[in-house]
Amino acid sequence: MKQRIVSGIKPSGDLHIGNYLGAIAQWIKMQDEYEAFLFIADLHAITVPQKPEDLHRRTIEIAKIYLAAGIDPSRVTIFVQSQIHEHAELCWILNSIARIGDLEKMTQFKDKSSGDARETAGVGFFDYPVLMAGDIVMYDADFVPVGDDQVQHIELTRTLGRRFNKRFGDEVFIMPKPLLQESGARIMALDNPDKKMSKSSTSENSYIALSDEPEKARKKIMKAVTDSGTKIIYSDDKPALQNLITIYALFTDKKVSEIEAMYVGKGYAEFKTGLADVVVAFLEGFQEKYASISDDEVLAVLKEGAEKARPLAQQKIKEVKKLMGFVM
Ligand code: TYM
Repeated sequence: MKQRIVSGIKPSGDLHIGNYLGAIAQWIKMQDEYEAFLFIADLHAITVPQKPEDLHRRTIEIAKIYLAAGIDPSRVTIFVQSQIHEHAELCWILNSIARIGDLEKMTQFKDKSSGDARETAGVGFFDYPVLMAGDIVMYDADFVPVGDDQVQHIELTRTLGRRFNKRFGDEVFIMPKPLLQESGARIMALDNPDKKMSKSSTSENSYIALSDEPEKARKKIMKAVTDSGTKIIYSDDKPALQNLITIYALFTDKKVSEIEAMYVGKGYAEFKTGLADVVVAFLEGFQEKYASISDDEVLAVLKEGAEKARPLAQQKIKEVKKLMGFVM
């Protein structure tokens, strides 16, 4: 039997090449070998305010991005999280064993809710990792392919799963492991190599959206900050260049040493032009595929995906509720 992977993306902003290289590119490589459940995490998106029309549009866009990137719906179960209401139910159940102390440790919450922001931070935003834990244990995931900002959430998933199993005396949940790209698990912002590339960034020049006009993406790369020095060398004391070389390597499947060799004796301008060509070629191919997929096609894939995922979720909730003593 194939091992299972589960992962998702929130429809809360424009997807960028960090999401692609950190998450989606891994999924594409894994879809043959693993049984995959990939969803659009719309219940997670609403933990910060979303305009209804944006949530709706982006949910469909993300599913289209999965397909355009090469996720094959005949092998992979692609669905919208909110269409399987068992996700919300399992979150509530896991809330009964999650502790405030567990959630207060979460970096994402700490970063966005320090000082005065704490008073106004949403309860859903605080509880976000519990919902995510439910998404993962619901389908008995062996692995969760994600970028490194999600690893702490997967550790919490294991903690909650273990606590539940111990308390209710059964191995109803299995322990998932995070899977990270060797490099690319953390693509940094183009204008600041200390910050990760993020869809909630207010600075457009910090990320390349998958929907960016290729020539706009080229300009962003040419403007990307670089470090002092002139040589194209991958090194920890040149974090901006390191990030650009990583992006280059991932899009071309070249080794870092090959890229360094290609640019011996050449400067940053030539390197950036080369990288821009690579990114532009990727975006053109990707966007052509994206444009060829209709909304109706996407909706049909999502319907079929929900029909495949739902019986598993229903079965899991049934087992869990029985163990806990609910009258069924
Ligand atoms: P989200 O929507 O913030 O990000 C989607 C995926 O993209 C990865 N990622 C990155 N990878 C490399 N470099 C970056 N700069 C970068 N930025 C984002 C993220 O690590 C993630 O893999 N909580 C999740 C969604 C979710 C989920 C789940 C994931 C909900 N339930 C269950 C896995 C399993 C999130 O907000 O991802």
